[in-house]
Amino acid sequence: MKPAENFLQQQLDRRQEHGLLRKLNHSKAPIDFCSNDYLGFARSEQLKQLIHEEIAQIEGVKNGATGSRLLSGNDPYTEATEHSLADFYGAAAGLIFNSGYDANIGLLSSIPQRGDTIILDELIHASLIDGARLSHAERYKFKHNDVADLEKKLQSAKGLIYVVVESVYSMDGDQAPLQSISELCLRYQANLIVDEAHAVGIFGKQGKGLIDHFQLHGQIFARIVTFGKALGTHGAIVLGSNTLRNYLINFARSFIYTTAAPLSHIVAVQCAHRLMAIGKESEILLQKINLYQQLANDLMPSDSAIQTILYHNNSSAKQAAQKLQQQGFDVRAILSPTVPTGSERLRICLHSYNTDNEIIALVNHLKTS
Ligand SMILES: Cc1ncc(COP(=O)(O)O)c(C=O)c1O
Repeated sequence: MKPAENFLQQQLDRRQEHGLLRKLNHSKAPIDFCSNDYLGFARSEQLKQLIHEEIAQIEGVKNGATGSRLLSGNDPYTEATEHSLADFYGAAAGLIFNSGYDANIGLLSSIPQRGDTIILDELIHASLIDGARLSHAERYKFKHNDVADLEKKLQSAKGLIYVVVESVYSMDGDQAPLQSISELCLRYQANLIVDEAHAVGIFGKQGKGLIDHFQLHGQIFARIVTFGKALGTHGAIVLGSNTLRNYLINFARSFIYTTAAPLSHIVAVQCAHRLMAIGKESEILLQKINLYQQLANDLMPSDSAIQTILYHNNSSAKQAAQKLQQQGFDVRAILSPTVPTGSERLRICLHSYNTDNEIIALVNHLKTS
């Protein structure tokens, strides 16, 4: 084996020894408590039809975008979608990225400069950590949702300050204390960045998320909405000022140096928003969350679509997931290093299309296994 291949194999063997080897697999368990398709849009025939009709109305739709947005890959429909989504979410402007990951690394790698400070919640998503790592700014973490600890970090921060949180945390399903954090940011003149990946579609009027729910639009520097969760499609938009949009077009490398999404994809995002705004699926999802909360009240349920059962080590979490999968429930274990050691868990995602009986059966299994 060549030395490089040898190195790769050693790393894989080490993961295997610790029970941490990641593998791609196809779930055979039919009852979905795993995907981020909270509103069922990825499988919605209604959405498929809407997309089909919309595409039929646009002349000359190409199969691919043919280039970066700054070269041949821009399209009036994409810009119109950015305008309409910015309007919908109550922001001045928006810029679409090919994924939430791209949006977050583009944003954090390009804006904070050497001498500036980025302060992130300790449970922030990997895409925001990676973005911050690519920046030359100082980087600190504050204790999860701990406003007093955030204030301590703010007191010693230098340069322009960026505070980065999720409105609903992807692994725990809990909410950030957004009002207190935004007041603190105002006091310390820090710029607040909020990732709404797991809030949109669930919280706020028409699923607009928690910034809209708390009417914090004016206090946010940048907001990220991803399309691959409740919206059932793919991609993301960064919302903020026109200046922010222009800056990202000029400096965010994950926006500049990549082929734009195909138009069919932007159409899907536009149509998914129309469907979400009607609100039927969000209403049903809230009923399902409510049911889970009532049944699982001793399992510390969250208010969001993400529910967590902690097992504190990889093997117990894996075993619990396997047992549930054998019963037909697609529930996955989230292991370290994806979550901190000691907080290994089952991550249960609730959906508008989970039946009441499925939820009742799941909770029964959770309580008895
Ligand atoms: C909070 C959060 N932000 C960003 C992302 C990345 O979004 P995408 O899947 O569109 O790349 C995710 C996805 O896991 C997420 O949970």
